[in-house]
Formats: sequence, C-alpha cells, structure tokens
Amino acid sequence: MGDRTVITTQVAIMGAGPAGLMLSHLLAQAGIDSTVVEIRSREAISNTIRAGILEAGSVNLLVDSGVDNVLRNGHEHEGTEFRVNGVSHRIDFKGLVGQSVWLYPQNDVFDDLAARREADGGDVRYSCSNVDTADLTGQPKVFFTDEDGKDFELRAQILVGADGSRSHCRSAIPESERRWYFNEYPFAWFGILTEAPRSSPELIYANSEHGFALISQRTDTVQRMYFQCDPGTNPDEWTDEQIWEQLRLRVNGNGFELKEGPVTSKVVLPFRSFVAEPMRYGNLFLAGDAAHTVPPTGAKGLNLALHDVRLLFEGLDSFFKSGSSAILDAYSERALDRVWKAQNFSYWMTTLLHTVPQEENHAFFRARQLGELRSLLDSEHGRAYIAECYTGWQTK
Ligand code: DHB
Repeated sequence: MGDRTVITTQVAIMGAGPAGLMLSHLLAQAGIDSTVVEIRSREAISNTIRAGILEAGSVNLLVDSGVDNVLRNGHEHEGTEFRVNGVSHRIDFKGLVGQSVWLYPQNDVFDDLAARREADGGDVRYSCSNVDTADLTGQPKVFFTDEDGKDFELRAQILVGADGSRSHCRSAIPESERRWYFNEYPFAWFGILTEAPRSSPELIYANSEHGFALISQRTDTVQRMYFQCDPGTNPDEWTDEQIWEQLRLRVNGNGFELKEGPVTSKVVLPFRSFVAEPMRYGNLFLAGDAAHTVPPTGAKGLNLALHDVRLLFEGLDSFFKSGSSAILDAYSERALDRVWKAQNFSYWMTTLLHTVPQEENHAFFRARQLGELRSLLDSEHGRAYIAECYTGWQTK
C-alpha cells in the first residue's frame, strides 16, 4: 500500500443503497457527520431493477426529511387484489386499517436520496475497492481505495453496515458473537418489465394451480410482472410468448385479460429468508439487507431497511447529542421485533400463494391452501390481518 490519507468522521456508513443514504441524510439534518463508502458505481445502483412498494411509514420518513418526489411521482394504492383461480378479492387497506401503500420504485428512492446527498454536499464515495474494516469494538476503521485509485483510512466513532445482502460488515463479526438464521424455498420468481399499459388500477397477487403471479406497475407505459418458476430457470431461454402464456394461465379469467406488450427485461430472482442476530457488535451496527433478507412476496425488503434506519438514527442522534447510549443499546432488539414480524409475513404470504409442485401430498396441500385462502378472504378479520401486515405495523 502507498500513502494512506486518514479521514475522520462521526459515523462511517458502508453501503450507499437506500438504507445507507437515508441514514446519512438524516444524520446530516441533525448536524452529525458521516462518510459513506460504496463499492458499486452510482449508475449501477440506479439501474438495478428492485421492488416497488413503500409502506406509509417509509413514505413519511422520506417526506418528513424533505425528500418528497414520491408525493409527485409515486402512486398511492388504497388496496390490492388477490386473484384465486381467476376470481378476484379486494383487500381494502384504507377501509380495513386506515393505511395505504405507495408504488414508487426503489431505484427512484435511491436517485432521490443520492441527488439530495449530492446537493447537500454529503460525503458519499461510490466505486470504491479494497474495502476492509478493523477495530469494531474500539474506534472503527474502514480502509478503501477510491475511484481514482487513492488509498484511505476512515476513522469513525460508529460504523454502520448498510452494505446489502452480501455484507462485508456482517462477516466481520466473530462467529461466537452472532447467530445466523436461514430458510431456502423450492422456487424463484421470473421478473419482467414489459412495454404495456396498466392491466388494473392496483397490484394483483394471483394464486392458481399453475403457480403464483404478481402484476405490478412502473409507469403508464411500463409494467413489472413476476411469476413463480423453478430456481434453475435460465431467463434467456424464454420467449415473450412462453412468458405471456404462463402469466395468462395464472391471472386471466372471468373476463379479465392482462394487457400484453414486448418484454424488455427478464431476470430470475432466488428466494431466501435470512436474519443475522444481534444487529450490533461493539461499535458496528447492521441495517437493512446486511442483517436480513426476506422473500419478495410481502414487499417488505426496502421497508424493513428504512425502518431499521429510523430506529438507528434515533439511537445515534441521542448518543451524539446527549452522550447517552440507552436508545442505541436498544437498537438491535427494537429492530429485530419488526424484522421477525416481517420474516413471518413474507414466509406466510409465500406459502399462502405459491404452489409446491413436487410435494408428496400435493392434492392435500392444494386443497388445504385454498381452504386457508377462503378462510382469510371471506373474513373481514382475515383481510384486515393481511392489510395490517402489508401496509406495515404501526410502531409501538
Ligand atoms: C413489487 C415487488 C414485490 O416483491 C411486491 O411484493 C410488490 C411489488 C414490484 O417490483 O413492483
């Protein structure tokens, strides 16, 4: 290594995804200094297609901090549709629990936060390499090489690992100090973008004997759709016609037809549940995907990350302003309370709506699943339970 430039800050943040940038933005507004280190380029993050649903609490966090494009460019959804064997059931979020969600893609959340950090003169370093950490139980340090090839040593009082599902920070915690929980699933999602008008005003979560499908949206002319597939599927081998055939089988019926168009993007998304406990080691705090992954069915990933950030910010703000670490010390336990609610909801929505083709007792599983769907959808309490979880639990 050549000469290393030493920089000091109050909070070092690994990862400039929505979690890392949101935290850096909140800290800046409270007068707390941070430096964000990210290995990807700003363009690569901005161009990665991610999920699209924000809970009302996530929207409030953005808007209350002055990042409010979501109000102009997002779409409020007061409910969603469950379609079971082609029969539609509406979950009226607003009527059942007084909440709604917003369709606003994660790329746009990232672009808004990145632009705001840039406008405010925030220290966000994209395209870094040779990233490593040290002294997590003392004064944490981050070593990195920036995009111009210069070597740095970043010293901070607190290190936040918001570095995503392949987190480096998480792996820096000694094995004896942490516990990892995993679950794998026998299917994946085939995700597409298509140039077509909206098929319906709200999202459609479809269950059928042919498998699950989700009809989501992006703009007036671009739509996002997913269908359950085998995890080994190679998306490049699928023609547009084969894709539409699967979507039609799972969603169309009783006079409803999807609006079709050319498929402009194809990707297979694996499913996984993962939690790293505790979300703290010494002066390292984990937030977002670095600490937990959920299967995508409940639209919880980004929302959980933003909720972590909200709690972590409360702890850090109190720590730097009053010197008291009480709220910060409670961070992991407070965050994990919602993490496990979301783990349950994501797992449960997944088993509720997907079919398990190779199951030995397939006929029983399918009939039982339809019984579960009827017992939920025919009951106001059942629909309210779905609405409460989907729109996001009210913070205690
Ligand atoms: C989208 C993704 C999800 O996982 C979900 O549950 C709802 C919407 C989306 O990409 O739009």
